Amino acid sequence: MMEARRALFLVVLAAAAAAGLVAVVFVLKWVLHFREGLAWDGGPGEFNWHPVLMVIGFVVLQGTAIIVYRLPWTWHSSKQLMKFIHAGLNLLAFSLAVISVVAVFDFHNYAKIPNMYSLHSWVGLAVVVLYALQLVLGVFMYLIPVTPVSLRAAFMPLHVYTGLLLFTSVIGVALMGITEKLIFGLKDPKYKDSPPEAVFVNVLGVLLVVFGGLILWIATRTSWKRPSDQILHNLHTNVGGEDSTKVGPALSQLSEGNDAESSSDVRKRSSKMDYEAN
Ligand code: HEM
Ligand code: HEM
Repeated sequence: MMEARRALFLVVLAAAAAAGLVAVVFVLKWVLHFREGLAWDGGPGEFNWHPVLMVIGFVVLQGTAIIVYRLPWTWHSSKQLMKFIHAGLNLLAFSLAVISVVAVFDFHNYAKIPNMYSLHSWVGLAVVVLYALQLVLGVFMYLIPVTPVSLRAAFMPLHVYTGLLLFTSVIGVALMGITEKLIFGLKDPKYKDSPPEAVFVNVLGVLLVVFGGLILWIATRTSWKRPSDQILHNLHTNVGGEDSTKVGPALSQLSEGNDAESSSDVRKRSSKMDYEAN
């Protein structure tokens, strides 16, 4: 059972990695082969940094940041180290997103195209701003020891919810952006004539949805949550290994990996295990 679960986890993880990697290759091939390449001169080459950095940074790096706590081989590293990796990857994702937005504004200003008129730009900019807020709150709540543990735990469900909402929104925003660009950019033949570029970039969009779906799947498996440091310590030193009342549901989680928990199990565990937030 444990073996099968582990294998399934690794398959899903490998599929996510593959989808993310292929998406990056696709967006590069799109701008380098089908479009004008990359430059920083106010022209179309500058615009092209926008999809490239959004796919690499906001989609793939953010997705990776979200699941770092879920990697079983990191469970024996300190929680502090994992927090640095989680925060660092999110900071890198944010930096690339900011450069990416600057690239479009610059391109628009050179070409005298209005800014912020589209639904894509509205939701997109909102996501970037809220992501900055999530980042700052995350650092002050969980990285720097200034927030009391009770507050940390109380806010963890919100942190997870807003994190997943932002990530999901980014995928949606990327799909809107791709659609706009194909409608604007394909002239003769047009988007509706399905030229090779249109089909190729549609596939990129599908890859982003697949990547997002796999990341959300991994991030929502209760059985693959990082066990608390206390439980890891107990497992390590064989203290309480037999006594399931001491180690509680987390150990049975580790060994059985039961997703279909009874609601009382979930309640018992809720604040203690899910949102320990140490
Ligand atoms: C413009 C955000 C992905 C295509 C914009 C603007 C923002 C934004 C804030 C407004 C810039 C301005 O008004 O000067 C985002 C975010 C993304 C994303 C947060 C995260 C995934 C993409 C992708 C494409 C794309 C993958 C595909 C090519 C465009 C286009 C514009 C634009 C064509 C100019 C037209 C418009 O303002 O809607 N984006 N974008 N975007 N973006 Fe994105
Ligand atoms: C967990 C998103 C920034 C600390 C999570 C989770 C998500 C998330 C979706 C749930 C992951 C899971 O259940 O395995 C984000 C986003 C961020 C961000 C989108 C940036 C915009 C930060 C920062 C810190 C932080 C800066 C500071 C260290 C944590 C902690 C957990 C967590 C401690 C709980 C991990 C666990 O106990 O398993 N974050 N986060 N986050 N995040 Fe963040």
